[in-house]
Amino acid sequence: MLFSLRNSGFFAIGLLLGHAGHADPDTYIRAGAIVDVEAGVVLDGRTIAIEDGVIVAVTPSSEVSIPSGAGLIDLSDYTVLPGLMDAHTHLLSDSDDHGLNSLVVSLPEATINGVKNAAITLQAGFTTVRNVGAPGYADVALRDAIAAGEIAGPRMLVSGPGIGITGGHCSDNNLLPYEYGVTENGVADGPWAIRQMVRQNVKFGVDLIKTCSTGGVLSAGTRLDAVQYTLEELEALVDEAHMHGRKVAVHAHGTAGIRNAILAGADSIEHASFLTEEVIELAKERGTPLVMDIYVTEHILTEGEASGVLPESLEKEREVGQIQRESFSRAHDAGVAMVFGTDSAVYPHGDNARQFSRMVQFGMTPAEAVRSATVLAADLLGVGDQVGRIAEGLQADLVAVSGNPYEDVSILENVEFVMKGGVVYREP
Ligand code: ARG
Repeated sequence: MLFSLRNSGFFAIGLLLGHAGHADPDTYIRAGAIVDVEAGVVLDGRTIAIEDGVIVAVTPSSEVSIPSGAGLIDLSDYTVLPGLMDAHTHLLSDSDDHGLNSLVVSLPEATINGVKNAAITLQAGFTTVRNVGAPGYADVALRDAIAAGEIAGPRMLVSGPGIGITGGHCSDNNLLPYEYGVTENGVADGPWAIRQMVRQNVKFGVDLIKTCSTGGVLSAGTRLDAVQYTLEELEALVDEAHMHGRKVAVHAHGTAGIRNAILAGADSIEHASFLTEEVIELAKERGTPLVMDIYVTEHILTEGEASGVLPESLEKEREVGQIQRESFSRAHDAGVAMVFGTDSAVYPHGDNARQFSRMVQFGMTPAEAVRSATVLAADLLGVGDQVGRIAEGLQADLVAVSGNPYEDVSILENVEFVMKGGVVYREP
């Protein structure tokens, strides 16, 4: 009785949706199980109905009969999750372009790298990324080409060039001698120069602002504990960015720079390596998420030298890697919001999911690790109404794996099916 009704057009679809909608699904995915990342549970036997790239229903498979004419994707041997999200990528850089190697990469080459790395990242199951630092607004062009369907890649939110001090970690080129006269894209000193640089980035199409409030591992001549930008400068940057509706991601390793960034109103702290109880409390109180790239240290220390990482950077990595992981455990225990971000490009693109098992090793449950790369990432990126969950009305960004990621989170390293906006990019 039910089945015959369902097969007869409009009523069938109304029932399927649970309300009198006029949706006409064009694709159905029969999933062995789906992950409800919000509730933290795996639900067996669900069918996902998709219309024009949007999820229109998620129903127990036993209650659905699929109309003839609709496409059926059989994932009954797989577990389906929302597309994964990485809040800290550099798609326009390659993992063998560290140190002096970076000096011979032209902007056209970086752009072509971006096209290649966008495809690799999508194939790995990451359907949305926040790209935090790229030269020449090539990230804006990459984002737009992907959004227009001209090339394959994840949905991108992009920052354009990072903004920072003269000689700073995320803005300047500290490798060439003075007589070359090279100052990089995002250098700005003092509140008004910083405001001008934020305005320029907004003018050329960025979604967010990236800045640095301390030195970094991979930049020449910067120190992890050294503050870059005064509190006054950071406040001007955040104020200007927020005036234009742009969030601010702040790279910070040292404690003082982390504190400044939180006080200035940063929307996320990247790396967040040297955490004290005081700044953990501050992050919690202000609701500032931490994006801690705790996989990458392994790659830098084993492969870094061969890919050009400077000796001073290897030295800094040896100093920070383990401490950052301990900070991760403490911040997680304290209940700070932690969002998945990996710093891809420092290690090879496509290996992003290797970080999940490290997040579990350092204190998260698999469900928490998956949440950090879905709902929590979507919240930070401000796109929670479009992606990050398998739910009616959201984009059909879906990945599938064999097995239960809540039992073994490392299976996310082997995503076997990828759909973005209803389009299949990878099949088992
Ligand atoms: N881009 C970062 C920096 O240069 C990479 C830090 C990698 N190390 C780490 N332990 N997370 O500072």
